[in-house]
Amino acid sequence: MPEKRTVLVTGGCGFIGTNLVRLLVGSGGYHVVNLDALTYAANPLSLVDLADHPRYEFVKGNITDRRLVPALFEKYQPAGVFHLAAETHVDRSIVSVDDFVQTNVIGTYSLLEAAHAYWSGLQGERRNKFLFLHVSTDEVFGSLGKEGYFSEETPYAPNSPYSASKAASDHFVRAYHQTYGLPTIITNCSNNYGPYQFPEKMIPLMILNALSGKPLPVYGDGANVRDWIYVKDYCKAIQRVFENGRAGEAYVVGAGNERRNIDLVRQICDFLDEIAPPAEIHPLRERGLKSYAELIQFVEDRPGHDHRYAIDAAKITRQLGWQAEVGFEAGLRLTIEWYLSNLEWVKQASSGSYGEWIEKNYAWRALKEKK
Ligand code: NAD
Ligand code: DAU
Repeated sequence: MPEKRTVLVTGGCGFIGTNLVRLLVGSGGYHVVNLDALTYAANPLSLVDLADHPRYEFVKGNITDRRLVPALFEKYQPAGVFHLAAETHVDRSIVSVDDFVQTNVIGTYSLLEAAHAYWSGLQGERRNKFLFLHVSTDEVFGSLGKEGYFSEETPYAPNSPYSASKAASDHFVRAYHQTYGLPTIITNCSNNYGPYQFPEKMIPLMILNALSGKPLPVYGDGANVRDWIYVKDYCKAIQRVFENGRAGEAYVVGAGNERRNIDLVRQICDFLDEIAPPAEIHPLRERGLKSYAELIQFVEDRPGHDHRYAIDAAKITRQLGWQAEVGFEAGLRLTIEWYLSNLEWVKQASSGSYGEWIEKNYAWRALKEKK
């Protein structure tokens, strides 16, 4: 276990952030300062049990705040930064780009400025060991055809406003290392799934729609492929990179679980049929539903929909000895069971601005109506 160190985590109330904060405060032994603006994507219930933990502090604030962020570096003297705060949903970025530029580009730049100023004033070991870990995505590499994998050598080719904003943030992170020597590392990971994921993303959306008897909307022909990783495996990779990664480098992360969307949705339905049969769920029983798969509907495709993502994680395995531990089927069952056992969390996530947003902006369909 590392010596107890204070670290700044941004976006710690989001999906990956919540899982990461739990890992770092728990077995990681870190003192975590979590800076989060609590946007629609954050759920106040996610970390409520850590509120009084001696190694956890929450600060509500925006990474673009040029007064608050430097003050936090000054106050807490962190040994490093885990930067996760971002706007993350591709569909939202298609409807409205502004927040993506504000948070992902300007926010990352503001954080880099504050980190650089703080790091420049450090001496000796503290300066040498400081690290700015930027959590990015494989979507910056664009889309694959039937063959091939993303690796650290893949050229950037973002296709959505979301991935373009993440690519821009990656370039700033790289530039602060190349130009000023700020010790930075970038991780580019594939699709995460697991506990605490906001229900606008595919896996929780399908689970929760199914349980409410709503349609399961599969975009296009359902042949798009994503490469899935259980979120706790990714958090362990992030910790490993923070502790042992080489400054100035990038690591792509994935677990080798490629699935076509339609196959994944059918698998979710099969597991749900077994774990929570529709015949045992009051309104679904009345509708005579035999399987959740009857709710699958093919809908209009996402504009610019990337066809396939797949990761070659050889570098992180070879250099840092990391590899995923949770198999896909086991992880999916754990995820379904987590949502079934955390309905209060789900209720909170689905209330307020999320529900209103869905009503007003059902993604590109609303965009099309405006045209
Ligand atoms: P999320 O949308 O669940 O959570 C984002 C968090 O950031 C929320 O708590 C939100 O309140 C906070 N936030 C947003 N704007 C902020 C701002 N301006 N200032 C402070 N806090 C702000 O995101 P996630 O899925 O957990 O993703 C976390 C990071 O990992 C992102 O950078 C994302 O690009 C990256 N990533 C995600 C995945 C995935 O599959 N979810 C895969 C690869 C990379
Ligand atoms: O690859 C990493 C990225 O994975 C992260 O950087 C993003 O933050 C994260 O949101 C995720 O992006 P995707 O666009 O791949 O995830 P999403 O869950 O939105 O969609 C997964 C796939 O499922 C995608 O091909 C679109 C499809 N889909 C999605 C939804 C919400 C559907 O068919 N129906 C749906 O209702």
